[in-house]
Amino acid sequence: MTGKIVQADQAPIASTPCSTEENLINHGAPNVPFYTPVQSPPAGTPWDTEPEGSLFSPLKVDGMQLYNRIIVSPMCQYSAKDGYMTMWHHVHLGGFAVRGAGLVLTEVVSVSPEGRISPQDLGLWEDGQIEPLRQIVDFAHSQGVKFGVQLGHAGRKASTVAPWIDRKAAARDYSEGWPKNVIGPSAEVYITQTIVQREATIEDLDKFKQDWVAAVRRALKAGVDVSERRLVREPHPPLPRDGRPAQGRSPSRLPHHDPHAHHSLPGARPFAPAVDARREHQAGPGACGARGRLPRHHRGGIDARQKIAAKLGYQVPYAEAIKKALAGTKTLVGTVGEIESGRQAQAILDARWADAVFVGRQFLNDSFLVWRWADEHEEDIHLPSQYGWAFGNTRTHKPKRSNQHE
Ligand SMILES: Cc1cc2nc3c(=O)[nH]c(=O)nc-3n(C[C@H](O)[C@H](O)[C@H](O)COP(=O)(O)O)c2cc1C
Repeated sequence: MTGKIVQADQAPIASTPCSTEENLINHGAPNVPFYTPVQSPPAGTPWDTEPEGSLFSPLKVDGMQLYNRIIVSPMCQYSAKDGYMTMWHHVHLGGFAVRGAGLVLTEVVSVSPEGRISPQDLGLWEDGQIEPLRQIVDFAHSQGVKFGVQLGHAGRKASTVAPWIDRKAAARDYSEGWPKNVIGPSAEVYITQTIVQREATIEDLDKFKQDWVAAVRRALKAGVDVSERRLVREPHPPLPRDGRPAQGRSPSRLPHHDPHAHHSLPGARPFAPAVDARREHQAGPGACGARGRLPRHHRGGIDARQKIAAKLGYQVPYAEAIKKALAGTKTLVGTVGEIESGRQAQAILDARWADAVFVGRQFLNDSFLVWRWADEHEEDIHLPSQYGWAFGNTRTHKPKRSNQHE
C-alpha cells in the first residue's frame, strides 16, 4: 500500500508513543537562527539499515555524511538579481532539502560578474551575496540535509540571455549583458551567436584565481558543506586547434586545477570537481584525471563540435572509467545523466560504477523523487515530520526490520 493516503486523524502512528514531558515538546532544529521543527532523523533516511553501497545507505565523504546517495545536480535557474539569491532559489532548493535528497547543490555560482552565463546567474563575488546563501544553507541544515555550492566561470560562453528567451542569443548592453568584457582562452568564438571574447591575459588569469579563492571563502562563511566546481567554460585551453602554448593558459595556473584553492582554506569542506569526461569529436570517451573527493563527470559542452546523444544513463560509462582509473584511492565518484528510476540508480551502484547518483531533470519533474524511488524499493524512509504524520509516518506500512532510528 505504498503511499496510501489515509486521513491524518486515522493514521496509524508508527513511532514510539510520547511518554515523557520532554517527548511532548515540539523541539526546534538546533544551530539555526529560526524555529522549525527538528527532523530527527532527517527526511530521506531509511527506517532500516540498508546494505553498504545501496541507494539508501549513508555515504561518508571526508567528515561529511550523507543520509542517502541521491544528490540534486546543479541546475541554473536564471533568476538571480545582480548575483544575489532570490525567493525563487530558496523555494526551489529548499523543496529538495525538505523532501529527502542526500545532498543539495546550487546551480553554478559565478566567481566574478563577467563569469556569469546570463545576467541572472548567481554570484559570490561580493560579501553581500553571502547572506542570502547562508539563509538557504541554514534551512537545509535545519532539515538535517547537506548543502553544497557549485562555483564556476562561463568563460567564452558568458553573457547570454536566459534559455527560455532564446537558447543561443547573446546578452547585449540593453539586456544587462557585458559584451565588451567576455574573456576566453583565445579569441576563437564558441558559436556565431555568442560574443567574440578577448583572449585572457596572465593578469586576467591571476585575477580569476583570486576571485575563485575569495568565492570559496565566501561560500565557507555561508556555511556550505561542500563545493563543487564546474569545469570552467573556457578560460582554460581545452581544445587548442593550433597546438600553440598560449600565454598563461596552462591549466595548472587555474584555480579549479589547484586543489589548494579549496583545501588550503581554513575549515575547507569536501571538494567535488565536475569532470569533463567527454570530448566526442576527439578519439572517444576517456577518463581524465580527477582530484577531489566526489568528482562528478559531466558531458562537457565546452566545444560546439560535440555531438551528444543523450539516452538513459548515457554518461555512466564515464563514471565507470573514472572509478577504474581511481581504483585503490579513497575518491568517491558520482554519475549523472538520465537516471530516471530508483531501480536504474540502484543497478549503477550495485555494479560499482559509481558511489552516488546526481539527478537533474527528474527532480524538476518530480520533487518527491526520493519518496518515489524509495517506494520502488519498498523502502520506508523518514519523511519530514510535518508531512509524515499524515501518512502514519510510514509509506509502506510494512513492519520495520529494526528500530534503530526510533
Ligand atoms: C535546467 C538545467 C540547468 C542546469 N544547470 C547546470 C549548472 O548550473 N551547472 C552544471 O554543472 N550543470 C547544469 N545542468 C546539468 C545538470 O546538472 C545535469 O548534469 C544534466 O541535466 C544531466 O542530468 P539529468 O539527465 O538528470 O538532468 C543543468 C541542467 C538543467 C536541466
